[in-house]
Amino acid sequence: MPQPSPWFTSPADAVDRLAASGYLADEATATTAYLAGALEKPLLVEGPAGVGKTELAKAVARVTGAELVRLQCYEGLDEARALYEWNYKKQLLRIQASQGSDQSWSATHDDIFTDEFLLTRPLLTAIRRDEPTVLLVDEVDKTDVEVEGLLLEVLSDFQVTIPELGTVAALRRPFVVLTSNASRELSEAVKRRCLYLHLDYPDAARELQIVSSQVPDLEDRIAGRLVETVGRLRDLDLKKAPSIAESVDWARTLVALEIGELDEKAVADTLGVVLKHVSDQEKAIKELRLRS
Ligand SMILES: Nc1ncnc2c1ncn2[C@@H]1O[C@H](COP(=O)(O)OP(=O)(O)OP(=O)(O)O)[C@@H](O)[C@H]1O
Ligand SMILES: [Mg+2]
Repeated sequence: MPQPSPWFTSPADAVDRLAASGYLADEATATTAYLAGALEKPLLVEGPAGVGKTELAKAVARVTGAELVRLQCYEGLDEARALYEWNYKKQLLRIQASQGSDQSWSATHDDIFTDEFLLTRPLLTAIRRDEPTVLLVDEVDKTDVEVEGLLLEVLSDFQVTIPELGTVAALRRPFVVLTSNASRELSEAVKRRCLYLHLDYPDAARELQIVSSQVPDLEDRIAGRLVETVGRLRDLDLKKAPSIAESVDWARTLVALEIGELDEKAVADTLGVVLKHVSDQEKAIKELRLRS
């Protein structure tokens, strides 16, 4: 009997359940999250830093009761860290142990290339789980292009081939989320296998909701001022525009310092929470003063 799908039953269901866990999704995000589950297709989420790409995968796992299996990508990530590797030390011990006995080499060889000697890494772990799983392949643009080759088999066939063991097919397809800052173009082959969602900074109303829900102690009036100021900062030509994460940090800072008014002094005193480059800070102070 097919197991009931743990994912979303409709875009509206996605909005509601994600919101209940603290993730406020817009319509496009909710629809794509619903489709990723319904069509069992990997979801590629692209966008600037701090707009909720990673958090979306975590939220999906939270609300569906699935386990989150995370593959953090970085330059130099290889098959041994992404898929699996053989436990050489244990294999060696096994070989040494067999030397005293009259076991043939081929029998030992068959022995040491079995499950017991396999170290599974996130991609293989996710494929082999028979419980609901969200596989997060985070910051996929940070890896070398070769890693995309590894991903393809997983993304298109939900299987992994281990030469010594054969093909391991997914018992149950994971909900796959890939995130990217678009620091480089991903290959067409990867894109073709995924649903695509571009996440950007939210509009002021949604950002206000996010800030208010995460920092309920901040007065509504100041939260409104904060969101508006962050919006203005994003319109400046900065090295690094403030993200949602920084809006939330800023709100927490204002609460911690018991700042009751977001005036010019308060902004100048706390700007380091929002802007992390001196040149950005200088530009912001100049521009905000000019316009306020
Ligand atoms: N829609 C949202 N609802 C609630 N909180 C959000 C939402 N989007 C972002 N956040 C908040 O912003 C923080 C940063 O989000 P996240 O870490 O997912 O960013 P990211 O897009 O993965 O950034 P990076 O590219 O730097 O990894 C989250 O911890 C969360 O608190
Ligand atoms: Mg992230």
